[in-house]
Amino acid sequence: MLLEESVNPMTGKQIVLVTGASSGIGAAIAARLAIDGHQVIGTSRKVSGTSGGSVAANGVEMMALDVCSDESVRTCVNAVLQKAGRIDVLVNNAGYLLACAIEDATIDEAKAQFETNFFGIVRMVKAVLPGMRAQRNGLILNMSSLAGRVPAPFWGYYNASKFAVEGYTETLRAELKPLGVRVSMLEPGAIKTPFYAAADGHPMPEYSPWRERAYATMKDFEKRAPGPEVVASTVSKIVTSSNPRLRYPLTMEGRALPFIRRMSPGTVFEAATRIVFHLDQ
Ligand SMILES: NC(=O)c1ccc[n+]([C@@H]2O[C@H](COP(=O)([O-])OP(=O)(O)OC[C@H]3O[C@@H](n4cnc5c(N)ncnc54)[C@H](OP(=O)(O)O)[C@@H]3O)[C@@H](O)[C@H]2O)c1
Repeated sequence: MLLEESVNPMTGKQIVLVTGASSGIGAAIAARLAIDGHQVIGTSRKVSGTSGGSVAANGVEMMALDVCSDESVRTCVNAVLQKAGRIDVLVNNAGYLLACAIEDATIDEAKAQFETNFFGIVRMVKAVLPGMRAQRNGLILNMSSLAGRVPAPFWGYYNASKFAVEGYTETLRAELKPLGVRVSMLEPGAIKTPFYAAADGHPMPEYSPWRERAYATMKDFEKRAPGPEVVASTVSKIVTSSNPRLRYPLTMEGRALPFIRRMSPGTVFEAATRIVFHLDQ
């Protein structure tokens, strides 16, 4: 439990970099950490210029960043280091959903999903690590998902990108522990954000009835989903923990489904998933 974790009394105001802070979960995390008194730099592809803008009313300074570009990542991290002197916390939040049948995506679309959701994290980690290793302190918080533990139908490449984040993060945590850098990941279930507006660009009719029913089930999850503040309030606690856990499942289904999956025979869980998403009607 978060409250039982040891809290480092030395951690006061920290320099925090949050990717994808223009919207949804990233915006909520950035705003919450600024309220907590940290110096927060948020990023977006929509910010122009490279040196950072003014601090917005919510206390978050926005900088330009495209996590798919080596050059953009280098420029952004260097600008933060120049301005703030160090980075204590990196929240790798930027990501998006490619929803479609697996057969339906082009190779370019599948690669693009990994370029943002997985290699975006890889690029950011490579850029901040020299500084964090030198200061023998730091926290890297990677955005996984419930879909990184329990795959959702018709989200194949998204699931795969988050499964990749899971394997990468667990290894990164093991390697960085002796160097003083803490590594954890967030695993939210459905959270109400613009994420779900992602349209299936060219739906193959062959998959129509099953895909439409799966999307309708997802729509129901989205309708009942909490806002991104639930993620932000957990992150607020993680950043002051000296010994954060590997995984932070969030939302009711985010906590329950990985547990149920672990405890159930594979065939039972598979059948239950087909029932929940109405895949056999
Ligand atoms: N919503 C959910 O139910 C849910 C559940 C589990 C996990 N997640 C994960 O949470 C993260 C945030 O999602 P969200 O729900 O908050 O969605 P969102 O509201 O659509 O926000 C996505 C953010 O990612 C940024 N972004 C996308 N591509 C980028 C790129 N190439 N370079 C830099 N920034 C990029 C966007 O910034 P700009 O467009 O301004 O650049 C935006 O700020 C994602 O990793 C998502 O997979 C979401």
